Amino acid sequence: MMNILITGGAGFIGSHVVRLFVNKYPNYDIYNLDSLTYAGNLENLKDIENKPNYSFIKGDINDSEFVNSVFKKHKFDSVIHLAAESHVDRSIEDPLAFVKTNVIGTMVLLNAFKNTWKDDFDNKLFYHISTDEVYGSLGQTGLFIETTSYDPNSPYSASKASSDHFVRAYGETYGMPYVITNCSNNYGQNQFPEKLIPLFINNIINNKALPVYGDGNYTRDWLYVQDHAIAIDLVFHKGKNKETYNIGGFNEWKNIDLVKLLCRKMDVELGRKNGASEELITFVKDRPGHDLRYAIDASKIKNELGWMPSVTFEQGLEKTVKWYLSNEEWLNNVISGQYQSYYEKQYN
Ligand code: NAD
Ligand code: DAU
Repeated sequence: MMNILITGGAGFIGSHVVRLFVNKYPNYDIYNLDSLTYAGNLENLKDIENKPNYSFIKGDINDSEFVNSVFKKHKFDSVIHLAAESHVDRSIEDPLAFVKTNVIGTMVLLNAFKNTWKDDFDNKLFYHISTDEVYGSLGQTGLFIETTSYDPNSPYSASKASSDHFVRAYGETYGMPYVITNCSNNYGQNQFPEKLIPLFINNIINNKALPVYGDGNYTRDWLYVQDHAIAIDLVFHKGKNKETYNIGGFNEWKNIDLVKLLCRKMDVELGRKNGASEELITFVKDRPGHDLRYAIDASKIKNELGWMPSVTFEQGLEKTVKWYLSNEEWLNNVISGQYQSYYEKQYN
């Protein structure tokens, strides 16, 4: 038996991780702690919410009294920490919110975990989910490896880098067992439509402009979210203490090329004439401090743990587009904020 706390499980990646663990490990007790910010949505977990090994706890990781009381009650053996403010553009508008949740919130969890197990960390694990953005920006060539120096450029990536450092520091100072993974851009079902792919899918559906930042020649490495969840499962069970693993899709795309591919797919799915969606592309003012290129060398997790993405980008994008088109209600609820009423109805 294992008692696992997953933070941020009502969000995009977290919901896929919670589902995988709840379904795959009926002997584990999975607790999903989430404060349900605008990005958290319990509708993402409707299919597993009544499973006997799943519990939802509403709460804020910044609230140390609350977090300590939850640890005292449940004595979690392990933490998989995903809760975060995750959108770069929002971090530019409100950096402090990112320091609060991503740095202070992580510290609160680290303290609660350390204080629960400080006399015996045997078989315990703090798994911190991080991002490739901590490494900063690449030029036209090169790949991020696990030992690439940290060089964050946005308030979001600076806050994630800071939390990574604290996790390592707790490992060194208090002997707390940990692993960290740094992953590239995820895409797939249930992603909040503020991120590039779901935002553009939604705008194409509604014939709205597609705001491409700058000249669109920025490069990201895209990974299907369920492959990220599979990697997290593998690292959780087989990763080595105090190690970092980079996770990526071996799948680099310039934004403008990706947007054009998406437009072509949407034209087919919506029965529009070829080229109709591309006409919506609008080049807009660039994101301040916009990182030119991220690209992951995922050979460590591939060679040491045998992980590889299981779907091609073509397949993953196809699944994603079809999911958004058949879940317009989800999309509209998320945008209008009506998912809060689902929560109130469900949990009063
Ligand atoms: P998301 O924004 O979709 O979800 C974040 C979740 O955290 C939400 O459910 C939200 O309600 C919850 N949350 C936020 N603040 C909280 C708080 N103070 N207390 C409790 N819960 C809180 O994020 P995501 O895209 O699923 O990212 C999850 C994690 O993965 C983050 O740590 C992010 O940095 C990391 N990551 C994301 C990507 C990506 O492409 N999305 C890539 C690499 C790493
Ligand atoms: O690399 C991992 C990171 O990927 C995660 O840590 C972050 O949580 C996640 O949000 C994502 O960050 P990005 O900034 O790369 O993702 P986003 O979807 O916001 O943007 C992808 C690219 O598209 C980026 O170069 C900016 C550009 N873009 C984005 C938006 C929202 C546009 O051109 N127009 C837009 O409207």
